[in-house]
Amino acid sequence: METVAIGFKCFIYFCVFIIIRANDNERFNGGFNTNLDDALRFLNEYDIEAANMCFRVSSAQWAYSTNMTDYNKRRMIEEQTLQAKFDKITWKKAAEFDWAKISDPIARRQIRMLTMNNRAALSDDKYNEIYHLISEMKDLYAHVRICPYVTDFNESVSIYCDLEQNDAVKIMADSHDNLELLHVWKEWHDKSGPVMKNKFMRYVEVANQAARINGFQDASEAMQFTYESAEFEDNLAQTIHQIMPLYKELFTYVRSKLYAKYGSEIIRIDGPLPAHILGDLWGQEWGNIYDLVIPYSGHGTVDVTAELLRQGFTPLRVFQMAEEFYTSLGLKPMPPEFWRYSMIEKPNSRKVQCTASAWDFCNKMDYRIKQCTEVDMKNLIATHHEMAHIQYYLYYADQPFIYRDGANPGFHEGVANAVILSVFNPTHFYRMGLSRNRTDIYENNINFLMLMALRKVAYAPFAYVVDQWRYQIFQQGVTKMNSEWWKLRLRYQGVVPPIPRFESHFDAAAKRHIPADIPYVKYYIALLLEFQIHKAMCTAAGHTGPLHTCDIYRSREAGRVLIDILKVGKARHWQDVVKMLTRGKSDKLSAEPLLEYFEPLLEWLKQANKYEKVVGWMSNKKDVALYQPLVYSKSNRNMVDIYNLIVFSVIAYKSSLVLNI
Ligand SMILES: *[C@@H]1O[C@H](CO)[C@@H](O)[C@H](O)[C@H]1NC(C)=O
Ligand SMILES: *[C@@H]1O[C@H](CO)[C@@H](O)[C@H](O)[C@H]1NC(C)=O
Ligand SMILES: [Zn+2]
Repeated sequence: METVAIGFKCFIYFCVFIIIRANDNERFNGGFNTNLDDALRFLNEYDIEAANMCFRVSSAQWAYSTNMTDYNKRRMIEEQTLQAKFDKITWKKAAEFDWAKISDPIARRQIRMLTMNNRAALSDDKYNEIYHLISEMKDLYAHVRICPYVTDFNESVSIYCDLEQNDAVKIMADSHDNLELLHVWKEWHDKSGPVMKNKFMRYVEVANQAARINGFQDASEAMQFTYESAEFEDNLAQTIHQIMPLYKELFTYVRSKLYAKYGSEIIRIDGPLPAHILGDLWGQEWGNIYDLVIPYSGHGTVDVTAELLRQGFTPLRVFQMAEEFYTSLGLKPMPPEFWRYSMIEKPNSRKVQCTASAWDFCNKMDYRIKQCTEVDMKNLIATHHEMAHIQYYLYYADQPFIYRDGANPGFHEGVANAVILSVFNPTHFYRMGLSRNRTDIYENNINFLMLMALRKVAYAPFAYVVDQWRYQIFQQGVTKMNSEWWKLRLRYQGVVPPIPRFESHFDAAAKRHIPADIPYVKYYIALLLEFQIHKAMCTAAGHTGPLHTCDIYRSREAGRVLIDILKVGKARHWQDVVKMLTRGKSDKLSAEPLLEYFEPLLEWLKQANKYEKVVGWMSNKKDVALYQPLVYSKSNRNMVDIYNLIVFSVIAYKSSLVLNI
């Protein structure tokens, strides 16, 4: 039976009542308690218990990640289950309050943060259901295995289909063989999405129900609510619009190089690019095709690995160098517990998870990095990056537990990558005695900026599109999930699938963040913040000259800018933090510092593209037919099917006799 409930939603700038429909038995009846003492008591208890819970879960996760035994895994899952229960109980307690009527603004905000936008509002059955759906999808994703690319086919030799994501990523990065890339791309997309499509559709339904109980129209609105700003989506749309001219110049230049490499069989000279030749399984980040597009091949590229080895660096010295970077800015040294308990090298006596990560054990004492450090440039950068997260933890440690986080979900990565703009930087390497490349040579600078653009500018539209897609699915339903995915990718990225795709495919789920229920727009926000924070620190440091040559090393003034952001944590609205950062000029996300950073490259690209007929891409019916075969009228459908058969038969012959393990 349906009844009408009054939902209530409140942004920082305005409050509106909206009328929502919800099932009778699932309606969230907001609480009535408005007593401030009760509220403060509850928040105090929460502060202690949540920190305690966090310590237990982190400890168990750490134990497993650094020692992957069955016993440790079981313990970790037990603690995570306790956490889920704790979250549900917390929500119930918070929901007893009528937060809007609590007189103290700080208590009001905290209770609202605990009440709103929470799946705990679901009935126990549904709460468990969505929790399990997500775990099952994560599990399916983790177990995707694909078949290797085989050219000299021999029926008497069995082929084992046991390549994991890491293997697929590596082939996509290293291979320049069109058929091999196509094979791996197709395998990965065919074997990841379709198996979880039904579960995902149910997940969309339940996530929407949870959102409606919380007073939102659907889960997309609930996702956006995290940012506490009514103008947030407009702000983002504006920034991607600003980045597009630079992206299109980069795209056009890259297309001309890929055209020269792969030819007109797979690239139309004024068209979009197929997703499989961009050096990345998802076509999201193009740094791996740098060798194909390098502007001045005779000139220096940044790589300090040989020099690190020559100077006898060890993993410990890499960590000490990173620490010294932060203390040179006036930030804190790593505490004794950090040095005692961090895992900075891969142990050979046990199995560990090697992804580099930074840990806060929530007890204001224990902070660690887990990294299987090898002595090379990549690890040097990773260590500086992870240590930025530790600095964040150290500075917001004095905040209440609920505020110990980035000002919004983009801040942690934004801050860490902003620091890296000074570290992965020819000027810095020169100052640190790790490179003798002159930094004032034009060709070297353009080469460096090209590499950065492939990593950062090329990533922007992808980072933007993922959640745009998710919002649409939550809003409009699941009937056209795959064509909507490619429609957005063509529109913003100029990327099309290399082979026809249908609604039986589910290509968005080839990216883990979709099945794993991890929001993605935070990476786009982090990208904008990265350059905004870099710019602010460089201004404070008194840097003159192009923005990409700025290195904040040894600048206490830049350090103060950083400390001001870090110590606030999430205690203030993120737009206040941006305002602080821009010295009162603006409280918005902006693409301008990013554009300033790449300004010299943009000029160069315009010259390089001078004779190109189209800057950007023109899409035609054939492009659209790749993911929307039904655009043809019914009478033409056979034609489409035949076309598909031809394309598939070319690809299918290789995997027809393969064992699937
Ligand atoms: C790894 O975990 C097991 C428990 O499964 C424990 O007995 C062992 O001591 C741990 N090893 C290390 C080096 O911590
Ligand atoms: C197939 O593999 C077997 C065993 O390695 C070998 O003896 C045979 O010559 C191969 N056949 C072809 C056609 O390569
Ligand atoms: Zn990070």
